[in-house]
Amino acid sequence: MYRSNTCGALRASHIGSEVILSGWVHKVRDKGFVVWVDIRDRYGITQLVFDQDRTPVALLDMARELGRETVIQAKGQVIERASKNPNIPTGEIEVLVSELNILNKSLLPPFTIEDDTDGGEDIRMKFRYLDIRRNPVKNNLIFRHKVSMEVRKYLTDQGFVDVETPYLIKSTPEGARDFLVPSRMNEGQFYALPQSPQTFKQLLMVGGMDKYYQIVKCFRDEDLRADRQPEFTQIDCEMAFVEQEDILNTFEGLTKHLLKEIKGVEIDKFPRMTFDDAMRLYGNDKPDIRFGMVFGELNEVAQHKDFGVFNSAELVVGIAVPGAGDYTRKEIDALIDWVKRPQVGAKGMVYVKCNEDGTYKSSVDKFYDEQDLAKWAEVTGAKPGDLIFVLSGDANPTRAQLSALRMELANRMGLRKPDEFAPLWVVDFPLLELDEETGTYHAMHHPFTSPKPGQLELLETNPGDVKANAYDLVLNGNEIGGGSIRIHDKETQATMFKHLGFSPEEAKAQFGFLMDAFQYGAPPHGGIAFGLDRLVSILGGQETIRDFIAFPKNNSGRDVMIDAPAHIDPKQLDELHIKLTQTS
Ligand code: AMO
Repeated sequence: MYRSNTCGALRASHIGSEVILSGWVHKVRDKGFVVWVDIRDRYGITQLVFDQDRTPVALLDMARELGRETVIQAKGQVIERASKNPNIPTGEIEVLVSELNILNKSLLPPFTIEDDTDGGEDIRMKFRYLDIRRNPVKNNLIFRHKVSMEVRKYLTDQGFVDVETPYLIKSTPEGARDFLVPSRMNEGQFYALPQSPQTFKQLLMVGGMDKYYQIVKCFRDEDLRADRQPEFTQIDCEMAFVEQEDILNTFEGLTKHLLKEIKGVEIDKFPRMTFDDAMRLYGNDKPDIRFGMVFGELNEVAQHKDFGVFNSAELVVGIAVPGAGDYTRKEIDALIDWVKRPQVGAKGMVYVKCNEDGTYKSSVDKFYDEQDLAKWAEVTGAKPGDLIFVLSGDANPTRAQLSALRMELANRMGLRKPDEFAPLWVVDFPLLELDEETGTYHAMHHPFTSPKPGQLELLETNPGDVKANAYDLVLNGNEIGGGSIRIHDKETQATMFKHLGFSPEEAKAQFGFLMDAFQYGAPPHGGIAFGLDRLVSILGGQETIRDFIAFPKNNSGRDVMIDAPAHIDPKQLDELHIKLTQTS
């Protein structure tokens, strides 16, 4: 028997018992006449004690020599500690060791296995298995487990069935590039790893499964960010015989359940906002509504004066920054430089200080008088003591720039409180999105999304105006889920493919299986997928999903621990009928 108890289990009630513990050497403190060894496992830390009076010399010496992270087994008696440690659950006791076995030696770890480690991100990723021994990482993984168990519990109770779908499939367009897998048995042909199980879950509805879910890996070859990984996990769901309202209610229920069970937070009804309003009021389709700084459009009150920059702009838009009226010139200049960075891209920024005495001081005093500026304050909701920032230019980029500034200010001002939760449904997304570079339309959600009733005709005349039965669930400024009501008849799906630039032959080659299935009594259906990594990290009060993934990839898509991707053996390439051409 390796252990009778875990290293987190022993309490005062165990005093007098003989126990066996197994774990890692966390720390050794050698006072000469007494040696304390902290032994650690997933469950906690227990203090082992060896002393001159009660421990044989050989055992005392052995304890003294123990290196950090050595795997040991210790047998002994639980005794009361002379000086108790109220900070840990086992702090009232220690184990007087009578027998010590070394189960495995350890090299000195390249960073300390402490909550506050001295290891940087790169080294911790390379030795991720050591990083996982640290409480913050370990606890995040346990937290993730708790969330996915609650998801399974809730959906199972609602009658959803967990069905696995294949990973070696044909391309499913979700807007990213595919990861491809060459087929050895079919020369020159490739599988694609699923960007999501979208088409399969729809086929499950045709198959009559009615309510499906799966906690499933998805693969997308796209540029990585804090909230994106090339392989990530979705809570993927689909329901038959539903309208948008049914989906929103069901998954609002799931989210409420998670907030309550995991965070003890009860939220009554999730607010809803149209995509158009989200863009107009927050410049963003995933607004963080935990704080204000709502956009005020200033065209009417700021144009037709002598300020050419505003007059020539499609949009003049501002936000009121609460309590920032006393920012110094230096602080304001730093923020102007911040919005002018290439990542944000503004050309410049106008500001108005709303003085406590009701007067205004702006960077454009030459063109605007107090009365004008008072109107700006009214439109942006600025109060005395606030600071108004104004950007102008083409509508879409200007909104994006002001949105970036709003989030940056909120971060700096501590307005994005991790323990406050503000879910929001964003609805009525456009069906299509214009690709500015190519001048062609692509599906904003995916090509299987249905247009709003009665809007199909608009596709011919004003494709950009067609709204979809598509929705996103936003939590604290992050898109944690997205879905839609699907097209379920062959003709509409064919029309949709046509508008997305597929010839009938291309549509048949890529999605013939789905259109064929629609001919055999496909029920009306719809669904949603949550990003589990994102959901878990936000519930955990953070926004970097890497911290909640056991073995994540770095920003270049590499697993630095196993060193993947890697070159492969030429023999393997031959078998796959792949010839590499030397490019350099
Ligand atoms: P969508 O593409 O919106 O929808 O994805 C659903 C959710 O998955 C998460 N997500 C990601 N998380 C981490 N890394 C990524 N690279 C990444 N990409 C997406 C987001 C997102 O909201 N098939 C549809 C769903 C449907 O229509 O039912 C789909 O995949 O949180």
